[in-house]
Amino acid sequence: MQNQNILSFNQMEEKQYLLKVKDFFNNKPHTYFVETYGCQMNVRDSQTLKGMFEEMGYTESADRLSADAVIFNTCCVREGAEDRLLGNLGKLKSEKKKRPDMLVMICGCMMQEKGSLENIKKRFPFVDVVLGTHNTHQLPLLMFNALTKKEKQYSLFEKESSIVEDMPVLREKDVFAFINIMYGCNNFCSYCIVPYVRGRERSRKSEDIIKEAEHLALRGVKEITLLGQNVNSYGKNTLDITFPDLLRKLNQIDGLERIRFMTSHPKDLSDDLIKAMAECEKVCKYIHLPVQSGSNRILEKMNRKYSREDYLKIVEKLKKAMPDIAITTDIIVGFPGETDEDFQFTYDLYKEVCFNSAFTFIYSKRIGTPAAKMDGQVDSEKIKERMARLIALSEECSLKSNEIYLNKTYPVLVEGTAKKDETLLCGKTDHGRTVVFNGSLDKIGKIVNVKITKIKLNVLVGELEEE
Ligand code: 5AD
Ligand code: SF4
Repeated sequence: MQNQNILSFNQMEEKQYLLKVKDFFNNKPHTYFVETYGCQMNVRDSQTLKGMFEEMGYTESADRLSADAVIFNTCCVREGAEDRLLGNLGKLKSEKKKRPDMLVMICGCMMQEKGSLENIKKRFPFVDVVLGTHNTHQLPLLMFNALTKKEKQYSLFEKESSIVEDMPVLREKDVFAFINIMYGCNNFCSYCIVPYVRGRERSRKSEDIIKEAEHLALRGVKEITLLGQNVNSYGKNTLDITFPDLLRKLNQIDGLERIRFMTSHPKDLSDDLIKAMAECEKVCKYIHLPVQSGSNRILEKMNRKYSREDYLKIVEKLKKAMPDIAITTDIIVGFPGETDEDFQFTYDLYKEVCFNSAFTFIYSKRIGTPAAKMDGQVDSEKIKERMARLIALSEECSLKSNEIYLNKTYPVLVEGTAKKDETLLCGKTDHGRTVVFNGSLDKIGKIVNVKITKIKLNVLVGELEEE
């Protein structure tokens, strides 16, 4: 069992700096802007950053350029997110010159990448504060030092060991909430940088997770999403309860209506998890199960530790236990050495499962990962061709899998108004399908019955049923 330290922010010296920063401004209004790149774990981490800013007396600014403090919460899973950060940092340079008191800060995964800090110091010397993935709790201390001493503050953690509980958090929506259940990853898929920047797996105590979920339910939150790089290995490093048992306990919380989780690694998806999903009425009949490739040769090179046959077997078991389950996936196209035949295996697997939807990614070389040293870079024209075929298939499958919803009535958790048309309401079915329909604003936050009248590629259109 791993020796895992759980600390409380309430007992840490760093907490005092929330007030010290607040006092520094002496009632003068000051604003912040948090820019988030990457996955839902980063979205959740940004809620902690926002929670701390609010306690330091800051109010949120609508835009980056006018804020008194800007923080970029970075991602380095693929090159695109890094490029966007560098572009946006460049745009702040002239503003920082005009307002030297403005704080420009960077945190998160990209900062934990080897050589990243040196690169930032060289290319963007105006950045005031840099921190990593394991020391978010140091933000107020580093900000206080930067404001009072006018010195740059760089603090990365070499080794992760602790989980810090009781950090402030600003949750914008009261309808649904994210709960981190574990941090880090032990899997070392050969293309992936995450284990290097987020460290080894660490699970929160089940009692802390349950307490957080109960607190959210009391506040009116109807749906929680449990987050972790590989939720199926929850508790393994601490000998706490298993992930299926955690679902069973959360299922008993009054007021909570829906429980989701992501991401699941196929190699760790147990029969007991399938059983727990099927028997717990609050656990959504939906799973995000990244396959990455349908070729055994590529899966082996990716170090995924399952075969296409294993994957198909799991899908079969899931569908047997929950016939209407929705399955989504992640796929990487153009992994080093991927041949036409390998890609065809992926294509055929996709067709066989007929996923509800998928995130499709072009392989992105990440320095420091084993795949970066592999031969067989795939030609970019070939990648484009494969991607176009896969996207066409995924659209076909999305439409096909949406057909079963037509003319049926589903409970929909209303999240707010539709992005494209604010006169319409928008929400999700248990299966994670987005539904837009007519209705009054007082329905937001409630579960209502909606009859699906039309299907589109990414959205179902419906009519509210009378209560
Ligand atoms: N290149 C392309 N996609 C990647 N992913 C992770 N690393 C890479 C990479 N180097 C994708 C995987 C993973 C998702 C979160 O990001 O599909 O499931
Ligand atoms: Fe990356 Fe694999 Fe861990 Fe997912 S399971 S975070 S793809 S190493």
